[in-house]
Amino acid sequence: MDLQKLFGLEGRVALITGGSKNLGRHMAEGFIAAGAKVYITSRKAADCEKTASELGPNCIALPMDVSTVEGCRALAAAFAEKEAKLDILVNNAGAAWGAEFEDFPEAGWDKVMDLNVKGPFFLTQSLYPALKAAASVAQPAKVINIGSIDGIRLNPWETYSYHASKSAILYLTKRMAARLVRDQINVTAIAPGLLHQT
Ligand SMILES: NC(=O)c1ccc[n+]([C@@H]2O[C@H](COP(=O)([O-])OP(=O)(O)OC[C@H]3O[C@@H](n4cnc5c(N)ncnc54)[C@H](OP(=O)(O)O)[C@@H]3O)[C@@H](O)[C@H]2O)c1
Repeated sequence: MDLQKLFGLEGRVALITGGSKNLGRHMAEGFIAAGAKVYITSRKAADCEKTASELGPNCIALPMDVSTVEGCRALAAAFAEKEAKLDILVNNAGAAWGAEFEDFPEAGWDKVMDLNVKGPFFLTQSLYPALKAAASVAQPAKVINIGSIDGIRLNPWETYSYHASKSAILYLTKRMAARLVRDQINVTAIAPGLLHQT
């Protein structure tokens, strides 16, 4: 069995949101080990650049806030200055908010839905030309949305907007997949369980 042929990413370009730490950083490390060139983004430029320098020459920092439409468009524009095509987009950046039912604030909805649901939609839309440029029948482009087990079953905490957002991203993935498959762009989601933070 040729594992490099099955799982190798030689020559591919990836962009991972929230790539400066934890899950996003691990994915960047894995993609680079498989041969990809990986762009990572996060709001704190210093952290983003530190991670990129630690992961080596095939990791490039493009710091940006992907919770706003302007941020998504600015990130796509900055990416377009460096690359003509994007093989893999990982919409990983996410946030949670916990508060008791009686006190749960509107800010706890806006922050979580903007980053976990609206961001993946508008970033994919902004990068659509670059994804289409990479996509072919033989090798489709990929959009991977990071959901959560909390979008499928209840956790014990009062994370109202997080549960709703992670459920929403799973269904949004289906809606986008049904449309973008026409352009040889495969949209899928992963729903991780609890990870140990490093
Ligand atoms: N950790 C878990 O146990 C777990 C379990 C299931 C699912 N997940 C999901 O997996 C994903 C990653 O989780 P994680 O625990 O690795 O997250 P994390 O440790 O909180 O890291 C979040 C990353 O996203 C970046 N980020 C946050 N807000 C951003 C914004 N507005 N624009 C751009 N980047 C932003 C952060 O950097 P800055 O702060 O510098 O922006 C950081 O790089 C999330 O979608 C999460 O819901 C996590």
